[in-house]
Amino acid sequence: MKVMTLFGTRPEAIKMAPLVKALEMDPEIESVVCVTAQHREMLDQVLELFEIKPNYDLNIMKSGQSLSEITSRVLLGVEEVIKKEMPDIVLVHGDTSTTLSGAMAAFYQQIPVGHVEAGLRSGNKYSPYPEEVNRLLTSRLAEIHFAATQGNVDNLLKEGINAQTIVKTGNTVIDALKSVIDDAYVFEDERLNQIDYDHKKVVLLTAHRRENLGKPMENIFGAIRKLVEDFEEVVLIFPWHLNPAVRHVAQKYLGGHERILLIEPLEYEAFANLQGKSYLIMTDSGGIQEEAPSLGKPVVVLRTETERPEAVAAGTVAVAGVEFEDVYDVTQTLISDPNAYAKMAGAVNPYGDGYACERIVSALKVWKKSKEN
Ligand code: UD1
Ligand code: UDP
Repeated sequence: MKVMTLFGTRPEAIKMAPLVKALEMDPEIESVVCVTAQHREMLDQVLELFEIKPNYDLNIMKSGQSLSEITSRVLLGVEEVIKKEMPDIVLVHGDTSTTLSGAMAAFYQQIPVGHVEAGLRSGNKYSPYPEEVNRLLTSRLAEIHFAATQGNVDNLLKEGINAQTIVKTGNTVIDALKSVIDDAYVFEDERLNQIDYDHKKVVLLTAHRRENLGKPMENIFGAIRKLVEDFEEVVLIFPWHLNPAVRHVAQKYLGGHERILLIEPLEYEAFANLQGKSYLIMTDSGGIQEEAPSLGKPVVVLRTETERPEAVAAGTVAVAGVEFEDVYDVTQTLISDPNAYAKMAGAVNPYGDGYACERIVSALKVWKKSKEN
């Protein structure tokens, strides 16, 4: 069976990397990897860490390009690769522009699509934007759906997706995380080794969502600046996203403070281990909401809603919204109230056991056999 794996951004790469490894190791499978490079540096960091050499690299990234540009360039580029390779199936991941365009390109060539991390729904088509609609449409195009949780399975069933085509696997991010966490990890950046993680309260921040650009991001960064100023024990680390629109606002609100470290995006191994050493995490990222519970770290979600209700139910994440007061209040409680903190830190991870990739590979073989019969 020839399986083509397609991805383009940092989170897709992290979550597809252990799957590529599992596919490569299987003697019954020929693995072909195509990256769109919707991200460049942030993708390359992951490829290097997991030692993945793509067979095709479409290199489509341009600074600040629009959604239509990404969509059309991925569509045209992937079409050529699919025509050449004619795989049995194309695997896409999650909800990015690469995901939807890649799935469309496969569909146009009548090649089946497997959707990894299927079934997440926020219920609001503009949040996350454009990801919610990317997911919905990819579900219509896919022939086999790899859902991480029962809630994700149920979302697909509610939309009329045939139960026979859904496989519950857990999230592959836990497979990735397990492979990089190391208690003895030493950072390349000496500033990160010098922090007194036991006595300081290290707050790790990431922010990049399109729907937060502008006023919401100003509110968020403003509230965080005040938190750092009000609580002397807090050290803030922000590996800022390479999107210039994010950096501009971050510099304005978070620049020039001795307890705020604005650093380049960390490679995954360093970032995962930094999550493990932090006191709490503030983020609008999706993947981090799945990882942090594994590491026993409370997450303040800088969004108005989440498509990860399992994490809310498990008590590991708190959805703070994007208003100044709300972000400040939710976070200051976790900084100053040990009981509130302990309650969140002790929750159990609902996202998987680290064997999602094995389950996906097995399901692919069953799917192939069923097609042959
Ligand atoms: C994309 C995905 C989003 C995902 C996020 C993960 C879409 C529409 N958005 O958003 O779902 O959560 O990736 O981070 O698919 N840049 C670089 N180098 C890089 C990466 C980005 O310079 O390695 C800069 C470029 O100027 C680029 C900009 O960041 O134009 C935005 O990148 P883009 O992929 O369009 O959107 P993200 O906000 O990263
Ligand atoms: N991450 C990383 N380095 C960083 C920040 C994040 O490796 O400096 C990882 C993080 O552990 C998670 C993923 O990137 O696995 C999340 O990616 P991102 O926030 O870009 O996208 P999202 O999850 O929101 O789609």
